[in-house]
Amino acid sequence: MPDPVAIPPELVERLRSAKSVAVLTGAGISAESGVPTFRDALTGHWARFNPEELATPEAFRKNPRQVWSWYADRRASLEGVEPNPGHFALAEIESRIPRFTLATQNVDGLHQRAGNRNVLELHGNITRTKCSTEGRIVPAWPVSDEIPPRCPHCRAFLRPDIVWFGEELPWDKLAAARDAALGCDLFLAVGTSAVVLPAAGLVDEALSAKACVVEINPNPTPYTGRVSFAFAQPSGVFLPALVRAAFP
Ligand code: OAD
Repeated sequence: MPDPVAIPPELVERLRSAKSVAVLTGAGISAESGVPTFRDALTGHWARFNPEELATPEAFRKNPRQVWSWYADRRASLEGVEPNPGHFALAEIESRIPRFTLATQNVDGLHQRAGNRNVLELHGNITRTKCSTEGRIVPAWPVSDEIPPRCPHCRAFLRPDIVWFGEELPWDKLAAARDAALGCDLFLAVGTSAVVLPAAGLVDEALSAKACVVEINPNPTPYTGRVSFAFAQPSGVFLPALVRAAFP
């Protein structure tokens, strides 16, 4: 029986013969695991909340309790969430390709749980906590009723290890992601609205390097008209079909 998701033979060949694959993922790849995106009109976080009040250093200075509590709720809502077939398909692709780099804007850790190894977390990880003044990762702190809790070393507030708007991305990870985008023969942009810089700029780097650039997103993005292939499908449907076609 033919696969219900048709993959163009040229793309199948591109993936099979690729020496270097780079991937940029966004919240959309985790949507089928039940994790809300940011900008989807009805279900995204930013449809209900103002990012200025939750995802900036100013917001944390103004209302640390509200910011800490929002991230604590998001962290709690990730309990019991599992990687979906889109995540597993990317792990399968990594196992088949000599050089593979996965840059993600997601903070949910689902790529690593699906088996991807070379993951660059550009926006941090929601399960990690750091000191808001010294920046050091704090794995544990004494139990207290205070919200946010305090750093056991310097007594400053603790905060999630997330890159907020207006903050620098970890430079080493961004540099590695740029090298991968510039040096790949196939680039996949999966489940990202591709409007947040500098992560979205990775698509430009891949385009400028003349890689085959593939977008997987049910909705259009600023790059849809410029990529080699755009598939308006959920990644949990498309990526497993791509793997089946390339590595039967
Ligand atoms: P967005 O919410 O901006 O975009 C999610 C994209 O996923 C949208 O373009 C959807 O169309 C698409 N999508 C939804 N369901 C999908 C599915 N099943 N399969 C594939 N795609 C699907 O999320 P990001 O692009 O990740 O930053 O947003 C980038 C950054 O902005 C985030 O990392 C976050 C946010 O503010 C911080 O919190 C620092």
